[in-house]
Amino acid sequence: MKIPPYNTTEIINWIERNNYFYKRFCYLSDILEYYLINYVLVSRERAKSIAENLLDVIKKCNTVDYNKKGVPEAYTILHFLDRYHRFQLISKLLLKYYKLPIKRKKIDIIGVGTGPAPSLFAISDIYTLLKIYGKETNKLVFKELKFKTDYVENSYGWRNWLHRFLEFANGTNEERYRMDYEKYRPIDFRWSVPYQHGSFNNAKGLDFRKRKQELFMSLKTKYEIGENYFSQYSFEYDFPYWRHSNRYNLVIFSNFFTQISLVNNLKLELRSFADSLRKRGLIIIVGAKGDPRKRTDDYHAIYDKISLILEDDKYYKKKSIGFCKKIKFPLEISYEWSNSYGKKMQSFYKSILNKFEDLKVKQDIPTEALDFLENRIKNNEFKIKWATHIFRKGFIFKKKYKK
Ligand SMILES: C[S@@+](CC[C@H](N)C(=O)[O-])C[C@H]1O[C@@H](n2cnc3c(N)ncnc32)[C@H](O)[C@@H]1O
Repeated sequence: MKIPPYNTTEIINWIERNNYFYKRFCYLSDILEYYLINYVLVSRERAKSIAENLLDVIKKCNTVDYNKKGVPEAYTILHFLDRYHRFQLISKLLLKYYKLPIKRKKIDIIGVGTGPAPSLFAISDIYTLLKIYGKETNKLVFKELKFKTDYVENSYGWRNWLHRFLEFANGTNEERYRMDYEKYRPIDFRWSVPYQHGSFNNAKGLDFRKRKQELFMSLKTKYEIGENYFSQYSFEYDFPYWRHSNRYNLVIFSNFFTQISLVNNLKLELRSFADSLRKRGLIIIVGAKGDPRKRTDDYHAIYDKISLILEDDKYYKKKSIGFCKKIKFPLEISYEWSNSYGKKMQSFYKSILNKFEDLKVKQDIPTEALDFLENRIKNNEFKIKWATHIFRKGFIFKKKYKK
């Protein structure tokens, strides 16, 4: 059944009138700051292990070992809030241009190499806000939205972080209510991110068609389904769980493809993610911008190669032929560090740096990393820019299946 037309300008105006993006940002920033200061930076030894890793996280975020003590925390301190805000802006634009998947059926979202899951926190927020909007305006499609997030992450360091931080952030841990909680009550809702239980470890080797086929065979065996069954009934409708498994509406790669070798190594997996997309589903690739004057610059080569992999060949199914096309979307999105979000991050960095100082570990921060943090705290005059590439899935039915 088609969903009734909706007006995204009206929804965005509602979000902005209520200042929801900024409120959620401040809420998350305060929770993170409180958690780091009261639960993580609690001993000199622990703070030192984080301080020492800050530079590696800036310089080698693609090769650093996220299972090493202090690394996930160092990465989170430096990048989490900024990346979360990037996805606030991306999801707002997706909504504005009617590209954010809105369905009556459940919307499945997966983050690949999710780390601290900034994209999933932001996507969870936009869908929850849409549900609130639906309740306030009594618009059923929004009110009854169902979504589920999942992730691929091969580091248990990150799973551990997500488990502990989400328990705190979602208030399962009562301590959180010691924060100045009252001021947030109007925008207090949980982040729907699967704690440590993301479904997949390694992106390498992921093949969703094969997984679906395996599930099919195991259901067939479990329910002792004989060959005759298929001529009488439709397996698809008797096992909706199977039908909906391994399918996604949104696949997110945020700061994941940092080297061309990684793209080459995950060619089949990229195809499989695209193959798993439902109609009008999206693959979102977010990363550094690269140098606009050089087409051969690493990042341009990465994005060109991804386009080639996703767009060049069709995706064949029994009844349909699928294709992936890059959509027109502002390739470069940015925000000013001098704006209210930048200011909030400055105050976050300041508190964390003060805590390092109190614990007498500021001298353990490598000079370049300290310069980075101090520059972010003092300097207002820069823009945070990044590249966003979005591919959308379409289908055409094969002749004999056309209605
Ligand atoms: C640079 S971090 C990006 C984290 C996060 N997406 C963000 O935007 O901040 C890259 C992440 O990918 C994960 N990763 C790298 N290779 C992977 C693989 N083959 N399978 C699953 N996760 C992987 C790392 O553990 C790390 O969490």
